[in-house]
This record gives sequence, C-alpha cells and structure tokens, in this order.
Amino acid sequence: MNITVIGTGYVGLVTGACFSEMGNKVFCVDIDNGKLEKLKKGLIPLYEPGLEDLVKRNYKKSDLKFTNKLKEGIKNSNICFIAVGTPMDEDGSADLKHVLDVATEIGQVMSHDLIVVNKSTVPVGTADKVKKTIKQELKKRGAEYKVDVVSNPEFLKEGSAVGDFMRPDRVIIGSDNPEVINTLKELYFPFTINHERFIIMDVYSAEMTKYASNAMLATRISFMNEMANICERVGADINRVREGIGSDSRIGYRFLYPGCGYGGSCFPKDVKALIKTAQDHDYDSHILKQVEKVNNEQKLYLVKKIKERFGEDLYGHSFAMWGLSFKPGTDDMREAPSVVIINKLIKLGAKIKAYDPQAMDVAKKYYFKNNPHVEFCDNKYQTVEGASAIILVTEWKEFRSPDFDDIGAVIKNKIIFDGRNQYHKEYLKSKGFEYYPIGNGST
Ligand code: UDX
Repeated sequence: MNITVIGTGYVGLVTGACFSEMGNKVFCVDIDNGKLEKLKKGLIPLYEPGLEDLVKRNYKKSDLKFTNKLKEGIKNSNICFIAVGTPMDEDGSADLKHVLDVATEIGQVMSHDLIVVNKSTVPVGTADKVKKTIKQELKKRGAEYKVDVVSNPEFLKEGSAVGDFMRPDRVIIGSDNPEVINTLKELYFPFTINHERFIIMDVYSAEMTKYASNAMLATRISFMNEMANICERVGADINRVREGIGSDSRIGYRFLYPGCGYGGSCFPKDVKALIKTAQDHDYDSHILKQVEKVNNEQKLYLVKKIKERFGEDLYGHSFAMWGLSFKPGTDDMREAPSVVIINKLIKLGAKIKAYDPQAMDVAKKYYFKNNPHVEFCDNKYQTVEGASAIILVTEWKEFRSPDFDDIGAVIKNKIIFDGRNQYHKEYLKSKGFEYYPIGNGST
C-alpha cells in the first residue's frame, strides 16, 4: 500500500519505518526541513535501538521517503496517519493545535477519497474535530471527497519502540466503517500474523483506551511507590511484597517496580490530560489526582533521604548522579526524576557530577546548559571521585554491577541512594557501604 505519515517524532518515524519494512511505500512528512535532511542521510534525531537500520535500509530502497510537502504524500496514498505531537496546554489538557493544523492542510490538499488515521494521543472527540476541520476545508474548495477518520492509538514504549510496533500486544482500530476496518487490517496483518490481535471498537472508545491504558500503568506505579513508603515505615521489604503480590495472576509481576517516580513523554502528560477531560465532563477524578501527587512527591524521595542523612544545607557536597534519562534505553529526559532531583540538590547548595550512557547530549543542550553546578563525566567512575554519595536514578545495565572496591577507594563517603533498587543490601553492607534503597529500610 501507499501511505503517508505526518510527523517524524517517536511515533511517526517508527510507524513509517516499520510499515516500509513490510513492503509498503511510505511518505514521511514533516515541516522541520533540518530534521528531514538529517533523516535522508540516515541520521536519527533520537536514540531508539534498531530504528537507524530500518530507516537507512528502506530509504535506500525508496520504500521510505521524506518530504515537507504533504500534498506529494497524499497525492500518492489512500491512507494518511497523523502522528504529530500533542503537547500539554497550560491547564493540563492536550493541545490539539498541531493535529488540527494538519487536518486543515489535509482538507486543502487532498485530491481523492482518504482514510485519515489518528495515531497521536488525543482526547475523546478529537476524531470528530479532525473530520469537521477537513470537511470545512473541502467545502471552501467546493471539493466533495469522502473522508474517514479512524482512531488507532499507538502503545509503543521508548527503548523498545521498533519491537513493540513489529510485535504489538494488540492493534486497536476505532471506526464504524467495515471497509475502512478491512483496509487497516490488511495493512497491519503482517504484524499480527501468528495471532489475531485486532480489537475493533467505536472511535470514542479507541481514543479513551490509550488514556485508560497509560493511566492504569501510572496508577500501578504510584500504588507501588505508596506501598514502598509504607513498607519502609513498618519495617517490611517492598521487594518481597512485590514478589508476593505479583504471583497472583490477577496482579502479575510486570510494571510493579517501585522507584523514584515515573517520567517520560506519556504518563505525566496523559494522566494530567485525563484529569482535565474528566473535569470538562463534570467529573472529579479522585484516583488520578492522587496518582499524580504521589508521583510528584516520589521524585523527591531521594532528596528527602539525602537531607535526613546530610542535613538541609548541602553546600560543599558533590553527588555522583548515575543516570539522567527517564528510563534506560532512551536519551529522553522529559519529566525525568533526575531533573527534579538535580535542581533541588543544587538549590540546597550541592554540586553534581553526572553520567548517563545516552542522555548526556540532551542534558547538556536542554536541561543544564552552561550550568556551573553540573559537571558531566565520561563514565560512572569519574562521577564518584570525592563524592559525598552516589545517587542512582536510571537503571541502565552498566550500573548493575560496578566495582564497589574501586569506588570505595575514591569516593568521600561510601553511601548509595538507590532510586531503582538495583543492589543487594547485604552485599553492599559487606563492602562497607551505607545503602538507601526504596521501600526496604536502609543499612
Ligand atoms: C509508556 C507506555 O508503556 C506505552 O504503552 C505508551 O505508548 C507510552 O508511555 P514509555 O513512556 O516509553 O511508555 O515508558 P515505560 O516503559 O512505560 O515507563 C514509564 C515510566 O514508568 C518510566 O519512568 C519508568 O521508570 C517507570 N516505571 C515503569 C516504574 O517506575 N516502575 C515500573 O514497574 C515500570
């Protein structure tokens, strides 16, 4: 099939590259010419395992094309995916400006019947707005093409986006037009070849599913963080409790890890947007408001521990920051706990020596540009020289088994604040380290 994908961010680029890998001809459209030129050279603007190969290979075969001209893409396709950003508005709601701008342009340039598929995370009712906008533009031109707007939310995770797209748990298609549903099933069939993974529903439910899914996962994390905080107070170990409850198949083991808070481009934004949507429909979401509150407090959990250990005034202290991205496998630092923690520690007078396997460039460019209090190091060992303690916030594999003897020789205090429960308490104790994990007391 010939398809157009508008937006070359995480979702758009992965969608375009994966569809082209299955033999479709894909036009990726973006307004950012600089980004398009880089993509044509195989330079991917984000770190995502496997994506570079996919883009390079399919671009070379001409199955994947990059253009700033929407008209060129749409002229040659009968399906058009919208995968542009929906940033957070000041009041927490999803800002639909980009989505509706795209809809306007589609209406201005389309020259035959079109299936428009929304992949961006958008509030319930957006498909209607997109359709209305396109129809308005068509009317202005006196054109009478048929347009179907479908909701097809994307569930890919950063760091495993290509794999998630290639082997989806489910493909949700929100539409009431059987013909359109069949066309999309055909397009997605190669990704679902061994199992029937299509879930067909009305467009509103499809839009809501994406929010409900992220809200449920965020709730699990805030719930576990709250359990961890209670465990600590009553002398229980959250790791054992996690095993204990995860063994109940109704609960399951996955997504049950307490930590120093969730971040990323989805959970914080989507939880906020769903609270706002509920408000707009006269419902006060008690649970989601607390999910958000627990998470904001959890991002400061390690700072609280540090203050209890060193006092309120951290002047003269340097801390080794292990990890900056919001999770391993990505260079994304949006809503990352590391940013909140570092800024708070600096406010209290501390200096930071930071290292992350992927996110250093992003950190230098967008978060701590020319910040005299933050020093970026070449590796994890450099950060600990003369440090008052190590603070682990992202569970990259290379932080899993460091040489604690080497660290012990150069660090000022043998102390670790572990925001991701990566180490064994007893082992660290045997190495002479004070250890502050999440939800399992300290040594
Ligand atoms: C998420 C959803 O998983 C995905 O389906 C959706 O499309 C986009 O949002 P992503 O933001 O890439 O994906 O990250 P994910 O792996 O889900 O982790 C989100 C956050 O939760 C991270 O900050 C992570 O550290 C945290 N987390 C995750 C925990 O604290 N504990 C867990 O057990 C799992």
